[in-house]
Amino acid sequence: MAQDRASWHVKGEAILDELVQLMNLSAAESSLLGALHGQAASQAPALLEAFYGRLLRHANTADYLKSASIDRLHSAVSDWFSDLFGGCYDAAYAQKRLTIGQVHVRIGLPVRYPLAMMDVIMPFGEAIAQTSAQPDLALAAFRKVLALDIAIFNQAYEDNQLKHLSELVGGERLARLLLTGMS
Ligand code: HEM
Repeated sequence: MAQDRASWHVKGEAILDELVQLMNLSAAESSLLGALHGQAASQAPALLEAFYGRLLRHANTADYLKSASIDRLHSAVSDWFSDLFGGCYDAAYAQKRLTIGQVHVRIGLPVRYPLAMMDVIMPFGEAIAQTSAQPDLALAAFRKVLALDIAIFNQAYEDNQLKHLSELVGGERLARLLLTGMS
């Protein structure tokens, strides 16, 4: 039988605070990224082309874009990318990213797709980080911030699954035990 874990009792906003703490991003790292915000905004059009090119070439992902407003998506993803270089990674930032994850939960998009799309985001962010006056530090900082986003995207999906399974089985502890596959 799996044992209870302290992490199981971290809930809601505390999860976001915990993740921000876990990443241990220093003030110097945050400001290095913040200094690259203009660069990120100028690279956004090229990123959008690569991002939607990848999604439109694959039938199962293109299907989600048929009825979406492409102009709205372009501006939302462009802001999402620029905010990676916003220089402020607090609980409000994490909450904003969680809300974006929840939008994808609600359209019934399997989590593997957004997670796989980090492959498109990563080289753009890394190239921008490398233009910093301190490229090694900026690169390490960018990787932390992107990892934070991956964790938060996934959290939106896990929250939703756990919520529904908990309602079905009558409690979160039992739901967590079931999900270990060992109950
Ligand atoms: C790195 C991965 C991704 C990021 C950063 C991202 C970002 C965003 C953002 C910022 C929004 C606007 C959310 C809002 O309304 O507040 C959005 C909406 C949307 N995204 Fe994504 N997205 C990702 C992956 C995907 C994938 C893989 C698909 C589909 C194949 C997709 C399809 C959509 C659709 C259809 C909407 C509009 C939903 C609606 O308002 O009905 N996204 N995305």
